[in-house]
Amino acid sequence: MICSKIFNRKKPILIANWKMNVPAIEWLPYIIKLKEDMPKKEATIVVCPPTVYLSEMSQNTADTDIRLGAQNVSQYLDGSFTGEVSVHMLPEIVAFVIVGHSERRTIFCESNEIIAKKIKLVGDAGLNPILCVGEPLEARTKTLQATYLRNQLYKSLDNFTFWENLIVAYEPIWAIGTGNSADIDDINTAVDVINDVMIELNPKAEPFIVYGGSVTPKNIAMYKEIPGLKGALIGGESLDVQKFLKIIDIYCY
Ligand code: PGA
Repeated sequence: MICSKIFNRKKPILIANWKMNVPAIEWLPYIIKLKEDMPKKEATIVVCPPTVYLSEMSQNTADTDIRLGAQNVSQYLDGSFTGEVSVHMLPEIVAFVIVGHSERRTIFCESNEIIAKKIKLVGDAGLNPILCVGEPLEARTKTLQATYLRNQLYKSLDNFTFWENLIVAYEPIWAIGTGNSADIDDINTAVDVINDVMIELNPKAEPFIVYGGSVTPKNIAMYKEIPGLKGALIGGESLDVQKFLKIIDIYCY
């Protein structure tokens, strides 16, 4: 079963990033519950599980509105790269690929140059890249948020051409997994920078921006009200299917 890559950019999107969580025996009950209780809303719902679950999960979600995403992809297409997964191995099972998550950038030392290679490969493969950008606490403290984001965006989008597929996730590092979610001012600054850079790079670009960083059922309503945001990328709180369902319900009422 080849999944459709097209998603409706007019609808909001909610993306669950499981990271290296959810034991093998637990993903199926999660997906069954999500399928059963997913509110019938005008929204795109994406689950990004660990790579090894993707193939079987794609069969379990083939007849549903649940779309799948990969959390990462190799910067290479094929060859002797132990432990890597090529973008050519993904198109039958996912529609989305997260690229440049701050955990990849910091823990696995991925530079903007590596991320630019990955994002281009994802676009070339006809998939939808979810490019993560976001400043560390130090940049925020020094009010260098805009400068930091501009630099990340320019370098990560070097040579990119598939603008109609692109999602940009603003994920400030200080907000991820900390409970310190970004406020409206932080997000407005980021949204302005992302919009400006994308239009500078491609005047026809229609930016599609989501927020990620300590999103919960309690704070999701605030993000829904921010003009310029089209959805959220949820880590910790997406691991509990009831909480993810609640977030979907609130965001897409
Ligand atoms: P969090 O993670 O929701 O647990 O803060 C978000 C992310 O890292 O994508």
